[in-house]
Amino acid sequence: MNQDQLKQLVGRAAVDYVTPGQIVGVGTGSTVDCFIDALAASGVKVAGAVSSSERSTQRLLKAGIPVLDAAEVTGLTVYIDGADEIDGHGFMVKGGGAALTREKIVADLATKFVCIADESKLVPVLGKFPLPVEIIPMAAAQLTRRFAKLGGVATVRAGVVTDNGGHILDVTGLSIADPLAFEAEVSQWPGVVTVGVFARNKAQVCLLGGTGGVKTLTF
Ligand code: A5P
Repeated sequence: MNQDQLKQLVGRAAVDYVTPGQIVGVGTGSTVDCFIDALAASGVKVAGAVSSSERSTQRLLKAGIPVLDAAEVTGLTVYIDGADEIDGHGFMVKGGGAALTREKIVADLATKFVCIADESKLVPVLGKFPLPVEIIPMAAAQLTRRFAKLGGVATVRAGVVTDNGGHILDVTGLSIADPLAFEAEVSQWPGVVTVGVFARNKAQVCLLGGTGGVKTLTF
C-alpha cells in the first residue's frame, strides 16, 4: 500500500469514533481530507463540525457537513486530526500545513484526540520534522536567536501567511526529549502565537496505518 492508500485507510477507520448526531472536531491536512471524504461517504450523520482551517471548512461544506463556529460549542467529544510526528506517549509535532493554532484551539475543546497517521509518522523522539511555530512577524529575529540557544535553526516559511495573519517559523535541529516542558517554555516567549508541539493537548488514540492494516495505539 502506498502512503495515499494508508491515509485513506486511517481516514475510514476514524469514522468509527464519530457518534451520529454529535458535533465533531476536524483537523487539517491530507489525511484529514480522507477522513472528511470517508465521513461523507459513510452515511453517518453528524450535527456538524468545528473546523481548524479554511481548507477543511471548504471540504466539509462541499461534502454537505455543516460547519459551526468554535464559539458555538462548549465542548466536543472527539477531535480528529493528523500529525507530522507522534511519539509513544501520544505527544505530537503538528503544523506542517500551517494550521496549528486553530488545531490546538479545537483540540482543546475535545475530550478525546484521535490522531490519524501513516506509520512513517511514529518516532521515538520528536524533533526530526522541522518544528512549526506560528509567530507574530516582528518577533522573527529574536525568536530565531532563542531557538539557536536550544540548538535549533529557525527559518521563516516563505510566502506563508496563516489563517490568523501570522507567519510560520520552521525549526530544525531540535530533539524534544520533554515535550510538556518544551511546550510550556516556548509558549511563553513573546511573539509566539502557537508552538507546534502538542503535549498538553496530546492524542489519546492513534490510528496508525501500515502494511498490516490499521493499528490502534492508546495513550
Ligand atoms: C496541519 O497544520 C498539520 O498539523 C497536519 O495535521 C499535519 O501536517 C499532517 O498533515 P498530513 O495529513 O497532510 O500529513
